[in-house]
Amino acid sequence: MAQNAQENAPEQTENAVAQDAAPKNAEQKKLYIKTWGCQMNVYDSHRMADVLSPLGYKSVDTPEDADMVILNTCHIREKATEKVFSELGRLREHKNAKEDKGSKMVMAVAGCVAQAEGEFIMERAPYVDMVFGPQTYHELPQMVIKATGERVVNTEFPAESKFDKLPGENKTQGVTAFLSIQEGCDKFCTFCVVPYTRGAEYSRNVKEIIDEAKALVDAGAQEITLLGQNVNAFHGKDHNGNTWGLGRLIEEVAKVDGVHRIRYSTSHPRDMDDELIEAHANVPELMPFLHLPVQSGSDNILKTMNRKHTSDHYRDIIAKVRKLRPDIALSSDFIVGFPGESEEDFEATMQLVRDIGYASAYSFIYSARPGTPGAAMQGHIHEKVKAERLQRLQALINEQQQSFNDSTVGMTLNVLFDRKGKKDGQVLGRSPYNQSVYIHADKEAFGKILPVKVEKSLPNSITGVLDV
Ligand code: SAH
Ligand code: SF4
Ligand code: F3S
Repeated sequence: MAQNAQENAPEQTENAVAQDAAPKNAEQKKLYIKTWGCQMNVYDSHRMADVLSPLGYKSVDTPEDADMVILNTCHIREKATEKVFSELGRLREHKNAKEDKGSKMVMAVAGCVAQAEGEFIMERAPYVDMVFGPQTYHELPQMVIKATGERVVNTEFPAESKFDKLPGENKTQGVTAFLSIQEGCDKFCTFCVVPYTRGAEYSRNVKEIIDEAKALVDAGAQEITLLGQNVNAFHGKDHNGNTWGLGRLIEEVAKVDGVHRIRYSTSHPRDMDDELIEAHANVPELMPFLHLPVQSGSDNILKTMNRKHTSDHYRDIIAKVRKLRPDIALSSDFIVGFPGESEEDFEATMQLVRDIGYASAYSFIYSARPGTPGAAMQGHIHEKVKAERLQRLQALINEQQQSFNDSTVGMTLNVLFDRKGKKDGQVLGRSPYNQSVYIHADKEAFGKILPVKVEKSLPNSITGVLDV
């Protein structure tokens, strides 16, 4: 479940991508990918592994002795660039060790820091071989060849979409899979780097998405999360040239045989149209969970953030969704300490949280991002004040999360078990409301949707017994 603690914020996602074996005739090479950032970065890392698979690259869990290391980076909040440099410093030792043995480790920086700071990285870290942005990784095979003779920087926004060039197979995801349907953002919230790092908004076409959903199911997926930086701005074309919104697309994805669960992330309040809201009532596969970032409860701050909605508009949307799907679990993102945020503005955020009642939420201290309008605004808030506000907000959110979890005790919920626990005999999964659920069961539960009678509620998870 989404946390409001910064430790669990999306920027800190880290995972190495698992992958099927490469073709037998290709020489086996070790690929290590480390991923930070949002779910779209996780998706991109999987796709990089897919693109590199025909060249013989197979994913491994550690960087030692890897033939290629890719850092897929995030630029959303402070210290992003420093984090990349300290990771590069550590990896350099592995690269040197590999070179001492007479072989080569290709070192690459990808993702949003690469997009924003490509040339700077090349300058400051001469041992980096490749830098590429989120829109060019489909060119990895050519880049790898080029990088044998020279250092490569590839941070253009190409005219062609990477999606037209990526392999049809999508082999590296498991029971729960991500599917990017939309990229980039044209909203230009004044705090945010995404429009600069990901570029202009772009929607994939319907056929391409449905084909990818089928490929994911063939590879074992039961749950698909449709992704976009601004996912409900989706406006893809069908085969007749008609434009579909996200609500219509969800109905179509639900028809794909084997798709048992659908989620989508991340939405913007301005793009919550009636069709999408109605999908929550009409499509049983669509999970009763909505992550709808609001950022602030103060209309003054929402205005200077250029969010293009008021707090009442947000309340109206939530009321509409709840009317059609009363049990929906709600989640959001909040920024505290945006320039000019008074105590009264912050209190309006607290009031909004009290009014809505969240099942979970992320909250962040405002971080001035270079090049964004927010960074140049007057009225920056003292770090101590920001930290103190964050603490108050998180205490309230934690309380709400605990009471949401408490409210599910005694219920029987269907859980998709997609992870093995650290302890023997422990299996982990997600409830329809996106809660983390763990039970003690044998391995057979893994990969299945099974009913669980909830017995106990914890701050960040629930637990119970199989109810079969
Ligand atoms: N596309 C998503 C946002 C992606 S970034 C959306 O529109 O909701 C995820 C979250 O990071 C944002 O919702 C915001 O709460 C937070 N965030 C973005 N820029 C930030 C900044 N400069 N400082 C602090 N938090 C930020
Ligand atoms: Fe960033 Fe705003 Fe776009 Fe979300 S909607 S990605 S916060 S600019
Ligand atoms: Fe980070 Fe880029 Fe995603 S900045 S949040 S990885 S779009």
